[in-house]
Amino acid sequence: MKNDVQKSSYLGEVIAVTNQKGGCGKTTVTINLGVALSKLGYKVLCVDGDKQVNMTSGLIKRSETIENKDLGVILQNILDDKKFQVKKFITHTRYVDIIAGNRALYKYLKDFNERSDRNTVYRNIFEGIRDAYDFILIDCPPTAGAENVQAYTAATQILIVSEPSLYSSDGVIDAIEIAQIAKKKTNKDLKLLGIVINKMNFGWSDHKEYEADIRQSYQKYVRVFDTVIPCRACVAKATTNAKSVLQHRSKDKASIAFEKLALEVVKGV
Ligand SMILES: Nc1ncnc2c1ncn2[C@@H]1O[C@H](COP(=O)(O)OP(=O)(O)OP(=O)(O)O)[C@@H](O)[C@H]1O
Ligand SMILES: [Mg+2]
Repeated sequence: MKNDVQKSSYLGEVIAVTNQKGGCGKTTVTINLGVALSKLGYKVLCVDGDKQVNMTSGLIKRSETIENKDLGVILQNILDDKKFQVKKFITHTRYVDIIAGNRALYKYLKDFNERSDRNTVYRNIFEGIRDAYDFILIDCPPTAGAENVQAYTAATQILIVSEPSLYSSDGVIDAIEIAQIAKKKTNKDLKLLGIVINKMNFGWSDHKEYEADIRQSYQKYVRVFDTVIPCRACVAKATTNAKSVLQHRSKDKASIAFEKLALEVVKGV
């Protein structure tokens, strides 16, 4: 299956990539899993749901203009009650489509506080485009605020990213709890896709201990993916160059790990 082939139907899975702990690799996993899924032939949209806009700059070079197409502009159109097509705000790259982030995301979302669609706004945005994608990946921010409630409400699945560290594995508990609340209140069909361990130094005994701890503590509630993403300098380097590591170093262990993760994700949905 080639990713430029028009299919008659798409999976329409919406995956919130999350952990309230900062820096564990949510953005990196969104970018690289997105590209890996695309290389398998799936149609992928990556959505930058974080005002830090790291996903956007990790996929689009600063010099390349995105012509006022971003999540903030979409939200402003909804607030202004304008009729618009979401697809007009999508940027196309070689492997994945993108809804770019907006640094003032908080300002737009604040205006939704008093509205009845405050929790469902992302779900409503994806409603008209879900059928055109196999996977919509939302890069969530490292907060427990409104942006996460909106992402968890729009999602069909939650993918938790964890570093092999104490704080990051504490963030896993928060993510599971928020998912449970969302399931009860705003999204009864929400599923936990799994936990992926990222930034692993396989030679470090404390990393191995945390991996074992994460597997033992959580796998009775949620799948912990067999694939572990190694900590590799080329992963960070690729993002700095607005590329996935799969494009930057296709044979690197990290690229191979993201390809394996993509296969596990496809089997898990
Ligand atoms: N597997 C990896 N190997 C090496 N570096 C990595 C890896 N994963 C992530 N990084 C680096 O770690 C830093 C944090 O990663 P990233 O921005 O993806 O985390 P995040 O969870 O999205 O952070 P935030 O919570 O701030 O949004 C970045 O500099 C990134 O390049
Ligand atoms: Mg991030």
